[in-house]
Amino acid sequence: MRTKFIAGNWKLNPVDGQQARDLCRQLKARLAPFSKTMIAVCPPFVGLGMVNEAFRDTNIAVGAQNLYWEETGAFTGEISAPMIKSAGCTYVIIGHSERRQYFGETNETVRLRTQAALKADLLPIVCVGETLNERESGVLKEVVSEQIREGLRGFSEAEISKVVVAYEPVWAIGTGKTASPAQAQEMHQYIRELLAEVFSQSIADKMLILYGGSVKPENATDLLSQADIDGALVGGASLKADSFAGIVSSAEELI
Ligand code: PGA
Repeated sequence: MRTKFIAGNWKLNPVDGQQARDLCRQLKARLAPFSKTMIAVCPPFVGLGMVNEAFRDTNIAVGAQNLYWEETGAFTGEISAPMIKSAGCTYVIIGHSERRQYFGETNETVRLRTQAALKADLLPIVCVGETLNERESGVLKEVVSEQIREGLRGFSEAEISKVVVAYEPVWAIGTGKTASPAQAQEMHQYIRELLAEVFSQSIADKMLILYGGSVKPENATDLLSQADIDGALVGGASLKADSFAGIVSSAEELI
């Protein structure tokens, strides 16, 4: 059986360093009882050092929210995979819909970033998902298929087995609207079939596919109990220790 993985995406929060330290302290206390679920927290770049330090000697891993694919050089304002690795991180989120929507991320840049992450021994969490318009016009599977086929093109089986996929329907992110467990499961099953077709059945069976989009303690059990939903990428609810711990607790009960 695949394990469960709950990752928190802090996005552009919190602004204040003290608030971030307080959140880490609370998370450390609230998450201490959970030993079976894989847990990660992804703060903004400036918090990576502090958060890694705060979670040292815990089972809470740390991830970045983005990276640039060049390792070093004249790329003002960018952060590379080896820098993230040397800050102590295990994971990096790639191709989040907010990056696609506001910062021009494409399936090709997702591929370049994923390649750079793997080269630096970071585990990429690659995000895919359709917009409301794409769902309503019935092209949701085509969109997700292209994101997977293009974004993960050319990786070996050894490389792809390190990738975590996050299915995040754009219309469910930060809106309070969640995909129903059946809608989410249908897409997760489709993604797993696609991974089996592009890579292999045994790789697809082992890969973790997370759901993201307004996951909270109240809906976590229904979503996480679906056969192909292996965890959650949590935005808003990851900024409060109680709600994030509530989601981890739901995962823990299902393992
Ligand atoms: P949300 O964000 O939980 O606030 O909807 C999820 C995400 O964007 O990863």
